[in-house]
Amino acid sequence: MKTIILYGSKYGSSRKYAEKLSASCNIKMISYEQASHLEDMDRIIYIGSLYAGGVFGLSKLLRRFALKDHQQFFLITVGLADPNEEENRNNIQNALRKQAGHELFERSKIFHLRGAIDYQQLSFKDKTLMTLLYKALSKKPADQLTTEDRALIETYDKKVDFIDIDALRPIIEELLI
Ligand SMILES: Cc1cc2nc3c(=O)[nH]c(=O)nc-3n(C[C@H](O)[C@H](O)[C@H](O)COP(=O)(O)O)c2cc1C
Repeated sequence: MKTIILYGSKYGSSRKYAEKLSASCNIKMISYEQASHLEDMDRIIYIGSLYAGGVFGLSKLLRRFALKDHQQFFLITVGLADPNEEENRNNIQNALRKQAGHELFERSKIFHLRGAIDYQQLSFKDKTLMTLLYKALSKKPADQLTTEDRALIETYDKKVDFIDIDALRPIIEELLI
């Protein structure tokens, strides 16, 4: 089965997962920007980081490429919010359904992984966005904060790394079926 891994990463978390998956399963990986001839593939694996709820690079890719009937699509998100929390998974998936469209969402095998952040590495624009978000969240009453909000507050202006390579295991198992 012809398979490719595409990744959408600004600071390296999704790329790190893509590299490990690529090495474990011997599948070629490239950034979504370099994707071409996807129509020749049987299976496309997209690993993309979450930015304000959206998967980085996915919309740009889908503007250039529509999944063919015979093709399988794996959609793997990487974000700071803990995907073991049901509320976070629901939020991520609601946004994904909108971004990918209902049909592609239903056809995809979906997985969620946890990423990393280092505020010292963020671009001016990203840092400003996070600061605005942090300030807005800090004004909210504690009982109105979602678990995702709390994760942002707790990690604000810090360097944290939740990357867990073992969390790729269910994806690798699915790829071996
Ligand atoms: C501006 C900005 C917005 C973000 N939005 C989300 C988000 O909506 N949900 C989430 O779980 N993580 C969010 N994050 C955290 C990133 O998804 C996380 O740091 C990820 O590991 C970055 O991946 P990358 O290193 O591959 O770019 C955001 C980070 C930044 C800087």
